[in-house]
Amino acid sequence: MSNCAGRMQRSATITPPLDGWPLQGSSVRVFNFAPGPAALPLAVLEQARDELTDWHGSGTSVIEISHRSSAFKQVAAQAEADLRELLGIPSHYRVLFLQGGATGQFAAVPMNLASAGATVDYVNTGAWSKKALGEAKRYCQVNVAADAAASNYTTAPSQGEWRLTRGAAYVHYTPNETIGGVEFPFVPRVDVPLVADMSSTILSRPIEIERFGLIYAGAQKNIGPSGLVVVIVRDELLGRARPDTPPIWDYKSQAAEGSMLNTPPTFAWYIAGLVFKWLKQQGGLGVMAERNRAKAELLYRTIDESGLYRNPVDKSCRSWMNVPFLLADAKLEKPFLAEAEAVGLANLAGHRSVGGLRASIYNAMPIEGVRALTEFMREFARRHG
Ligand SMILES: Cc1ncc(COP(=O)(O)O)c(C=O)c1O
Repeated sequence: MSNCAGRMQRSATITPPLDGWPLQGSSVRVFNFAPGPAALPLAVLEQARDELTDWHGSGTSVIEISHRSSAFKQVAAQAEADLRELLGIPSHYRVLFLQGGATGQFAAVPMNLASAGATVDYVNTGAWSKKALGEAKRYCQVNVAADAAASNYTTAPSQGEWRLTRGAAYVHYTPNETIGGVEFPFVPRVDVPLVADMSSTILSRPIEIERFGLIYAGAQKNIGPSGLVVVIVRDELLGRARPDTPPIWDYKSQAAEGSMLNTPPTFAWYIAGLVFKWLKQQGGLGVMAERNRAKAELLYRTIDESGLYRNPVDKSCRSWMNVPFLLADAKLEKPFLAEAEAVGLANLAGHRSVGGLRASIYNAMPIEGVRALTEFMREFARRHG
């Protein structure tokens, strides 16, 4: 506790309750509200640290062995099995562990699912869906089926407002906009494959996989380290890639090679496997959903009850994972961030494109972290409100 107390002493008037935050030896772990790369469960980091130089008595690290060794193949297969169990992924879906991040998938999706003359439907709810549809325009005809511009991207358009294309190759949407903090309160129903960028919401709660043709998610929020992107794709969508698709981006060739067409990001894959085990130990996604709901409710309540803070997102579409907020006086942002940092509440700045503040509260953020943040916010408001 001593280092933690030391942090708090730097700011005489602020004493948020950091008790209970696991401190290991002399090192201090802050509450890390980063949007991604984001906090990982401490138990996972500790296990990785403990076995980093001598993995399971092998005398080597897991990241120093061949991805084609039976030992690593076991790591890879176990990670996939655990992810399948957590999400209830049916056997007619493939799970791919790829590289190039979610941004790579912005291109891979149209390359694999749409022929050159095809039309695809995109719903634009903010920064990430805009990037996804911008990339798709390089490969096919993009119809923006709905656009939340009129609300300044603070809502998710209800499905009744969507103008879908008959015979579209697929419909793409972003269930959770990481920058805007806008989350769809529903899973759309469409007649063509539904494609979802779940980078910042996957594993936050149970989902019905069969509603989707394809899900992709950059790992660096709820899965593990950056460098890995997980793709979950219905079997029947394999083998449709445009002829000029490089094999490395072709889902069918990657599926045929067990995502090892070339050397995969073995460390990220191994850590993802530890995160999946940790999620199972916590009780699975039903338990995570309850925790995430409670964390989000506490934070939004604190914002709404205060005269100092404001969240601009329509209440029906507020994200459980990324909570942006503004201060009544923007000049208070810098002191807010500095004082928060001083008491171990880290990485609360909003995205550089929009400013303001943002707390990302993914699975690895315990309720204690959100309590510490909300008590700090109330205390800051008392002094500045
Ligand atoms: C919803 C969403 N999509 C895509 C991306 C881009 O991910 P990457 O940096 O892995 O390409 C991000 C990154 O934060 C994101 O939040």
